[in-house]
Amino acid sequence: MNQGTPDYRDSGLEFPADFVFGSATASYQIEGAAHEDGRGPSIWDTFSRTPGKVLFGHTGEVADDHYHRLDSDLDLMQRLGLESYRFSIAWPRIQAEGTGPANVKGVAFYSRLVDGLLARGITPIATLYHWDLPQTLEDAGGWTNRDTSYRFADYAHIMGEALGDRMAMWTTLNEPWCSAYLGYGSGVHAPGITSGRAALTAVHHLNLAHGLGLSALRDAVRKPDAQYSATLNLHMIRPARDADGEALPASAEAVRRIDALANRAFTGPMLHGAYPADLLEDTAHVTDWQFVRPGDLELTHQPIDVLGVNYYSTVTVTMWDGVSPRSNADGHGDAAGSPWPGSEDVEFVQQPGPYTAMGWNIAPDGLEELLVDVHEQFPTLPLMITENGAAFDDEVRDGVVQDDARIDYLRRHFTAAHRAMQRGVDLRGYQVWSLMDNFEWAYGYTKRFGIVHVDYDSLERTIKQSGHWYGELIRSRSIPE
Ligand code: NOJ
Repeated sequence: MNQGTPDYRDSGLEFPADFVFGSATASYQIEGAAHEDGRGPSIWDTFSRTPGKVLFGHTGEVADDHYHRLDSDLDLMQRLGLESYRFSIAWPRIQAEGTGPANVKGVAFYSRLVDGLLARGITPIATLYHWDLPQTLEDAGGWTNRDTSYRFADYAHIMGEALGDRMAMWTTLNEPWCSAYLGYGSGVHAPGITSGRAALTAVHHLNLAHGLGLSALRDAVRKPDAQYSATLNLHMIRPARDADGEALPASAEAVRRIDALANRAFTGPMLHGAYPADLLEDTAHVTDWQFVRPGDLELTHQPIDVLGVNYYSTVTVTMWDGVSPRSNADGHGDAAGSPWPGSEDVEFVQQPGPYTAMGWNIAPDGLEELLVDVHEQFPTLPLMITENGAAFDDEVRDGVVQDDARIDYLRRHFTAAHRAMQRGVDLRGYQVWSLMDNFEWAYGYTKRFGIVHVDYDSLERTIKQSGHWYGELIRSRSIPE
């Protein structure tokens, strides 16, 4: 850490009255009821049932059984004092095969969820796509098939009509970086494809889906003050340094390349209406980008009211010299393919700890820097932290989960967010990941991110100490001791 870097352990910092404190989840990670009420299979059902893809062969068949425990989970949110709840809608519950008319029972579930939130004074924030693509669409090419973007727009229109009278905020996509590069590049996420070209094709079709979906929503929604957004896991990328703290000469190139693939590949088409020229050059040997058709970049470039930022950690990069032992600490696990098409020679350098149970370094200064940086790039765009949180190995002892490490993590990151606001960032809210322990994708149920503990045998929920701490933060609107 640089000299003078604050330790981010302040308490008593106050947040503005209209700042929205909430918590987040995603459909496949919590709902279970995978075959009920007309839900079709998603790519995560298929992937998690494929041996070797998810730790211990865990699947989302039951997950937290949220689908059957909706009312008590809503009560839990109220007990925590949440002001908002960010959830996602499972596309295959609405259209089992990704096309055609809406499944009435699927829509009814989310309608009940939204009504339950509003009845408890909790603001609903819906994400339309948090990775559970209908399997039938994947069978036709998934996000490498342009048609998927148009199917997404139809689905968005259905949801806009169904819930548009009540939804406060809509998010098109959650972390398209993961959908494209982990789903089609490294293959550690569903559908498990390992092709750089497929990954970049998916990047574009996701950007297109965002744009088409947003227009479809605006068309269908009958609530003039509804807000529209996308959520990106923007990477906070740092140059690797030598022992004296000087940035390695090769690291600037690595920072530029990863920034292009991870960040500007999405902010470019969504917020500027163009792909960055350097991204196209860096990846020219992987694809000719002919899948970007004339007029597409007007479609991807839709006005949004707020940009959702998911932040957990930082990455530190340089160019691999081809000789030294290679570190690959990019936090994305062992992969058959690369999540960085065309930039496989970038080296992800191990960063100093402390770390969470995911092995991710804890860096609240990275959150402050990222928010300030995004604000400087897009000064008129309000931001919301749509995810931040940490996994630790929590245990229930005598009915209590004493998760001090998570409290410390949250305290530091709320402090960092507060500092960013003092530096001029228009930050509207903070959704802690996650409301409850859940299916952590390729890690199955082995990583606990919740502020509520879930016992996977009894499915009993226990509010962790961090949940109580967060409740106190929300009540007092300031960071507690
Ligand atoms: C990002 C994803 O949106 C969410 O689904 C995941 O569980 C968390 N990060 C933690 O990895």
